[in-house]
Amino acid sequence: MYSAAISGTGLFTPESTISNDELVAALNAFVEKFNTENAAEIEAGTVEALAPSSNEFIVKASGIKSRYVLDKTGVLDIERMAPSLPTRGDDEISIQAEMAIQPALDAIKAAGLDVSDIDGVICAASNMQRAYPAMSIEIQAALGLEAGWAFDMNVACSSATFGIDMAAAAVRSGQAKRILMINPEICSAHLNWENRDCHFIFGDVCTASVIEREDLALERNAGPVWSILGSRLRTQFSNNIRNNFGFLNRSEAEGRSEWDLMFKQEGRKVFKDVVPMVAKMIGEHLEEYDLTAADVRRFWLHQANKNMNDFIAQKVLGRVPNEDEAPVVLDEFANTSSAGCVIAFHRHSRDLAVGDTGVLCSFGAGYSAGSVIVKRAA
Ligand code: COA
Repeated sequence: MYSAAISGTGLFTPESTISNDELVAALNAFVEKFNTENAAEIEAGTVEALAPSSNEFIVKASGIKSRYVLDKTGVLDIERMAPSLPTRGDDEISIQAEMAIQPALDAIKAAGLDVSDIDGVICAASNMQRAYPAMSIEIQAALGLEAGWAFDMNVACSSATFGIDMAAAAVRSGQAKRILMINPEICSAHLNWENRDCHFIFGDVCTASVIEREDLALERNAGPVWSILGSRLRTQFSNNIRNNFGFLNRSEAEGRSEWDLMFKQEGRKVFKDVVPMVAKMIGEHLEEYDLTAADVRRFWLHQANKNMNDFIAQKVLGRVPNEDEAPVVLDEFANTSSAGCVIAFHRHSRDLAVGDTGVLCSFGAGYSAGSVIVKRAA
């Protein structure tokens, strides 16, 4: 058995951002138009009036202030309320593969490697642009990787931690020396931008990580090497976060509304169920390695909700963590599904010292949760 390590990461952020104020202005204009156009039905009680959103609520309930999106114009257009993305022909690169290239190359470069050193590609995300051919295989081809294998996997918001675990398993067994694990998340496309309960939640981004045999990474001495001590994965079925989009939709006898094919959640229930589940998982996982929360220099937590992270860290640490212990990126990025904890790691890990221990942790639909304990080895 070999030891596996994270030896490089990369991040792609779209050029466009939407602030809470811009988002709220668009939703409220939409709400006003809807309520005016449906005034008679609302008066008769056959249609429910829509309620406006507010920046104050969004910041207080989630901590989110802004998000990056692939297309801003379509989202803020109250006649559309959805990103406007190009239809790519079968002979053109798909959008998810395209957004994966830059962070993939950055991660490979950060590790001091060449593309040809990579043995396998895992594309792990909440949504894939199509069923097949696998996005990962297209990414493999776009990178010019002639050897090796690639596959897609989806564990919703936990796709990256599960992806790290799958990559580490392949490396530990000797099946591969180096795996590129990529998380192209286009959350703006599965979001109901007309619904004030969730319109503020998501953003778009792509992260990439190189998971490599630790001895090879240390030998090369190219940059920080994070030894993966181990990961713990947990799933428990719940309908509280759901997306019914799928290949059976066009064959379903009843048909589904457009909104039923998008992200929906019972946010309060998720909060209540997931906080104890994740706190327990991290605690037990640390115990397994004879560690306590006090031994952990930094938590790179899933970036969905600041209050939720504070509760989880409070249960694990016994107090609310400071920014240094549990960095926040969701204020700038919003929830980017599986990519959130990788962004936090990418942005906030270089300052730690050799010997420091940290935990990457994700949680979300499924329910699914993953924790990865890492220790800086170089
Ligand atoms: N602006 C103003 N008010 C709003 C609003 C908005 N955009 N959206 C909802 N409200 C109202 C609600 O209608 C509700 O009003 P009521 O009390 O009169 O019924 C009130 O604000 C509270 O709403 P609620 O949905 O209970 O808020 P919350 O504090 O639970 O926060 C979430 C909502 C979604 C931010 C929060 O539940 C959450 O993040 N949960 C975890 C979700 C998660 O991590 N999911 C994983 C996703 S992958």
